[in-house]
Amino acid sequence: MKNCKVLMLSGKGGVGKSTISVSIALHFASKGKKTLVLSTDPAPSLSNIFGINLSDKISKLKENLYGTEISGDEIIKRWNEKFGNEIYTVMRAFADVDYSIVEYLGTAPGIEEEFMLDYIMELVKSKKFDIVIWDTAPMGNTLKLLSMPSKFITHLNFATKVYTKFYKRNSAKSIYEIIDEWKVLSEQIIKFLKEEVCLMAVCIPENLAVEQTEKLLDEFKEHDIRVQKVIINNVIQKDIQDSKFMLKKAEIQRQYVEKIKNLHSDVVEIPLFEEITEENLIKIMREIFKDEI
Ligand SMILES: Nc1ncnc2c1ncn2[C@@H]1O[C@H](COP(=O)(O)OP(=O)(O)O)[C@@H](O)[C@H]1O
Ligand SMILES: [Mg+2]
Repeated sequence: MKNCKVLMLSGKGGVGKSTISVSIALHFASKGKKTLVLSTDPAPSLSNIFGINLSDKISKLKENLYGTEISGDEIIKRWNEKFGNEIYTVMRAFADVDYSIVEYLGTAPGIEEEFMLDYIMELVKSKKFDIVIWDTAPMGNTLKLLSMPSKFITHLNFATKVYTKFYKRNSAKSIYEIIDEWKVLSEQIIKFLKEEVCLMAVCIPENLAVEQTEKLLDEFKEHDIRVQKVIINNVIQKDIQDSKFMLKKAEIQRQYVEKIKNLHSDVVEIPLFEEITEENLIKIMREIFKDEI
């Protein structure tokens, strides 16, 4: 797990991202690393798992372990505090041109994703934590997240062109500067994703999983983001194959497990438990990190 400052858990809803995020966080915390487990899923379950109401403020959960759940709205609020004046300056300059241009800039595609990445990048830069375990929103949104910084740059380039059409270059230098700063920020985010973020894909051994995992891995590779492990959750173990149904289901699962193993070399299987208890969280942790102990 060299150089991964952020471990991003991605996969469909309900496959075990939050559960596994917590197990991974417990591992790093127990190794003495200052660990933050962060959820940006609108349906977060970290609070349930820890039995503590987490909020957008970072709370201490135990020795070396901290947690937070943050919503898209809160992230936008923080971005406004940070860049609000600049946005206003840019907007105002466009305002008497044509309202559709204002709308165009203000509703830039993926502005929320851009803010989220900026928030996480700042967390890493602050060096308050050795590692951030990021429990993300279901897959579609994660993929959107990756392509946003470069789309945002394209959008800003276009905005500059539109702007230049209406104003003489020398009349509003500060606006060009602001747009350029935003571009630099997007470039920093792209670099951050490549250098400090790693993916752990989570799936279950079912039909759709293979297809979706393949897509997820392809997209991450395309964006040059390192893939650490693929974790297959809910794998039926021998000791519970005690009925025809369970035997059959285990057999079907096996095919999908094999397919996923063909996609990626570092695959971990997590057993299906009766329920998630503290003890089972530790079993999951041991399974994921058994090669590293
Ligand atoms: N290996 C497992 N065995 C049994 N139940 C599990 C396992 N992994 C997760 N669960 C349960 O499945 C449900 C969904 O898990 P969760 O981690 O919330 O998924 P996600 O974050 O991907 O939506 C939860 O009730 C959780 O306790
Ligand atoms: Mg979750």
